[in-house]
Amino acid sequence: MKKRFVLFILALFMGVILLSQTQAAAFKQGVTYIWNGTGAFEEGVNFSVRSEIHISSTVTVPENCTLFVRGDGTLVIDKGGELIVKGTVKINSNGILRNYGSMTVEKSGTVNTYGWLINREKASLKNYGNVNIFTSGRCNNYGRFTGCKDSVLYVTGHYYIRNNGILDMYGKMRVQPSAFVRSYNEINVYSGGVVNNSGKIDVTDGGVLYLQGGKLNVKKNASVTGEGSLQLTRFLALDSQGKVSLNINPPQPRQVNGVYYVGEVLICNKKYPLPESFGDGIYAEAYNALEKMRRDSGYPMEVLSGYRSYQYQEQTFAYWESLYGTARAEQISARAGTSEHQTGLAFDISSLNVSYINTYEGKWLNENCWKYGFIIRFPDGCQNHTGYSYEPWHIRYVGVELAKQIHENSCCLEHYLGLA
Ligand code: DAL
Ligand code: ZN
Repeated sequence: MKKRFVLFILALFMGVILLSQTQAAAFKQGVTYIWNGTGAFEEGVNFSVRSEIHISSTVTVPENCTLFVRGDGTLVIDKGGELIVKGTVKINSNGILRNYGSMTVEKSGTVNTYGWLINREKASLKNYGNVNIFTSGRCNNYGRFTGCKDSVLYVTGHYYIRNNGILDMYGKMRVQPSAFVRSYNEINVYSGGVVNNSGKIDVTDGGVLYLQGGKLNVKKNASVTGEGSLQLTRFLALDSQGKVSLNINPPQPRQVNGVYYVGEVLICNKKYPLPESFGDGIYAEAYNALEKMRRDSGYPMEVLSGYRSYQYQEQTFAYWESLYGTARAEQISARAGTSEHQTGLAFDISSLNVSYINTYEGKWLNENCWKYGFIIRFPDGCQNHTGYSYEPWHIRYVGVELAKQIHENSCCLEHYLGLA
């Protein structure tokens, strides 16, 4: 009787111990921490995770504090659980952090992984600070990983975007030479976001790398390959000195207030006309570029025609039609609404005769205008794409960066924009 009573008391006592242990179970093994039971750690103390530990409420790693997930440890953020990293989380080689809930790396926060960082389906990982996947490190993303503005995702190891995984990038992603990134699903690079690739990015069939206002720089010796696709919304979004062998989908023409743009480039041609009311003169930026070009060249570069309104173009076309008939007029003059002169970005320089190309000035203009942001809009041999005869005198302002790309890579604007 007495013995049984003692056993009963003992069991009760053990039960209380077990209960208090499960309640405070979270970070028991490290011993070097103080867990106050409400979700916050005490400042200035480090923690170690060994064996498997679960977070099911909100837990914060404070600024001057490191949470180690040791090689024998697994830290699980349960569904409904939340880990806020203001300090450092270090996942050692073979250590695992598995997120089913939500994880936020604050501006002051850093996650260094030499082991496994796994973001499961429906889980969210938001990075405002730094997430570093080191050489032995692996990040497997089945959920949503957001690289917020000013954040850095630094990869020297492996980063996988799995079937339902999404990587949204508003900050910087730095893929180092030893790194391997594979996407089975979506990578979105938004405005302000940059992916600097010095390593390998592989986009598998069904995977998409979507440059939605952001940039992809592919450095020398780096590659972006695979059966998937690269979707552009801006042309200058892709800058490659390395190898890009994905299916590249150029931006589709879209209409803004009746004006067509392909990516950031205004397009005006027979197929994509301007509204009658569009335009009210020369763009200052285009004019300033012309002035600089004229000064640098030392040639007069007389502007024979700059801005022409819709109504003026009607008369211009009618004039050429009266001289040469409709068919010929169509080749040398634009119908109202389809002339680039209505955009305020185009100039006719010095001559309206093809022999202009045989003059010193004409040669200089054709060889150098790209340096000032201009393209020869109707080059020789591109009549099929542009719809107009060769005009070595008609220049169109597109900005220096784009003019350089067109000059180096394409026969004409339509060709460059994927409209040829
Ligand atoms: N001469 C060009 C095609 C224009 O009329 O705009
Ligand atoms: Zn012209």
